[in-house]
Amino acid sequence: MRVMIIGGTRFIGPPVARQLTEAGHDVTVFHRGQTESELPRRVAHIHGDRLQFAEHHDEFKQLQPDVVLDMAAFTQQDALATVTAFRGVARRLVVISSQDVYRAYGRFHESEPGVLERVPLTETAPLREKLYPYLGEGRGLDSYDKILVERAALGSTILPATILRLPMVYGEGDYQHRLLLELKRIDDRRPAILIEQRMAAWRWTRAYVENVAAAIALAVTDERATNRIYNVGDTEALTYAEWVRLVGHEARWGGSVVVAPDNTLPPKLSPLKGNYNQHLVADSTLIRVELGYQEPVPRMEALRRTIAWEREHRPENVDRLLDYATEDVALAELRARAAADAPRSPLLP
Ligand SMILES: NC(=O)c1ccc[n+]([C@@H]2O[C@H](COP(=O)([O-])OP(=O)(O)OC[C@H]3O[C@@H](n4cnc5c(N)ncnc54)[C@H](OP(=O)(O)O)[C@@H]3O)[C@@H](O)[C@H]2O)c1
Repeated sequence: MRVMIIGGTRFIGPPVARQLTEAGHDVTVFHRGQTESELPRRVAHIHGDRLQFAEHHDEFKQLQPDVVLDMAAFTQQDALATVTAFRGVARRLVVISSQDVYRAYGRFHESEPGVLERVPLTETAPLREKLYPYLGEGRGLDSYDKILVERAALGSTILPATILRLPMVYGEGDYQHRLLLELKRIDDRRPAILIEQRMAAWRWTRAYVENVAAAIALAVTDERATNRIYNVGDTEALTYAEWVRLVGHEARWGGSVVVAPDNTLPPKLSPLKGNYNQHLVADSTLIRVELGYQEPVPRMEALRRTIAWEREHRPENVDRLLDYATEDVALAELRARAAADAPRSPLLP
């Protein structure tokens, strides 16, 4: 099968390109040439900007991809451009979306207050009613909305589409370094990692990058995925405290996760803004039942590899993000309060 990947050279794209190539498919990545990573030599590159797809029309026609996999559509305009460029050229489109399309995300993000959404979220769960979730946050994401990306991608009968909604993805190459602060504390042999109760109990669906890549490769190569929308993610969504304990276990940490009552930690240690009563748990049964998806890499092996990569690629400025003196004071206060609250033993003076 000939597969054209739009993007494909940063984090999740490279393992997808690798897995498809190893399975014998011909892969071409289309990207600007600003981000390069080690891809198999058989992978062909077309350098160009997706804002100027029209300049590459002849190359696309000559290549005649069976499937176009868009890993880098963030706006409605992005997705419309892909549909326009590959309608009548490719047979099928696969688009990478996100679980931030669900209304539960709006509840969590506090942009759409209301009754908590029931989890786990299936693919038919209500979507956000407010568009542009990051508008005005100054992160260059004002036009970002995967709801509009999905709508545009699903809008053509000539180029049928598959949508994959991804959870929080971790693993080698993660430029967001999702384990950064926890792992740094663990490696510095901190006695404790402090977490406020509401965040400690918060569940979020995660997935390891190689496993996500396997789900994407499956959706690309299995025709049954045509016109379908699938959640991707681990079957079990751990709480944040469980997740940190697991990382600590795999990293051979002797410390403990200490859960503090809500609003008792100093601002530096408080959770980021969000309604942590709203869990972000997705149900990934559909892709398992319909396409037979299974994770190729077990969770502890995934964590082992991620920890090794994170240790080798730790950003230099990480110390600036941590304040162990403040943590020590907070921990001592918590312990003092716990000791004072504990019922006095009649044997103690
Ligand atoms: N990471 C997560 O936790 C997570 C969660 C949910 C959803 N997702 C979704 O997963 C997808 C994949 O993310 P990723 O970072 O791993 O992607 P990736 O495909 O590995 O990297 C992004 C690619 O897009 C290319 N690119 C960027 N702007 C371009 C442009 N204007 N024209 C052509 N190519 C362009 C980059 O190469 P050049 O720089 O060389 O152009 C790079 O190859 C995204 O759609 C993201 O929204 C990720």
